[in-house]
Amino acid sequence: PYRIAVMASGRGSNFLALHAAASEGRLPVELVGVFSDKASAPVLERARERGVPAQSLSPKDHPDRLHFDLALLNAVAAVQPDLIVCAGYMRILDGRALTPWTGRMINIHPSLLPRHRGLHTHRRALEAGDAEHGASVHLVTAELDGGPVIAQAVVPVLAGDDEQRLAARVLEREHPLLIASVDALARGEVAWRDERLWHGESPLGAPLRL
Ligand code: GAR
Repeated sequence: PYRIAVMASGRGSNFLALHAAASEGRLPVELVGVFSDKASAPVLERARERGVPAQSLSPKDHPDRLHFDLALLNAVAAVQPDLIVCAGYMRILDGRALTPWTGRMINIHPSLLPRHRGLHTHRRALEAGDAEHGASVHLVTAELDGGPVIAQAVVPVLAGDDEQRLAARVLEREHPLLIASVDALARGEVAWRDERLWHGESPLGAPLRL
């Protein structure tokens, strides 16, 4: 089966969603490893409890970002994934370490890219007065949150929303969005060469927004 490695720094609800879909036969993939930059990330324990090998490396043990990224991606490469899924991986990656993974690494980002790249996306959507917000799954390139978008999920921003309520509304849509995106990649329905990716169309079917 199609092999998925997950990179994550935190709670791991997106990992859990992928794992549940795979183990219930809704997603034709095998989760072959979880990798973190944080030894305390809850996702590590959640993975181990489900029989998925999980390991963390500390940036402190490496001289700079490039060396850390190379070490982490080296550990990831050892499980021979077909696809790396960044699911709440919160460190910026050095583009030089990403070259071997071009087209084989995706990220889920909690905004409607290209709006709100980077951190604190829910707060920024509220501050900007956005009427709509959401999440995007995109292929990872050297440009932070800048790779071609595979699909997006849109939610309304409602009166009375605070960061937490908005984040929860987005998160609920992240899980099916990520599963659908991984499914399309695993089935070969989407690939780096897909012209639709480069024309701002969703390979999951127009419109881009699920
Ligand atoms: C998710 O909302 C994901 O979109 C976001 O972190 C959260 C991780 O939740 N990712 C980023 O902000 C990437 N810059 P999870 O650990 O429960 O999957």
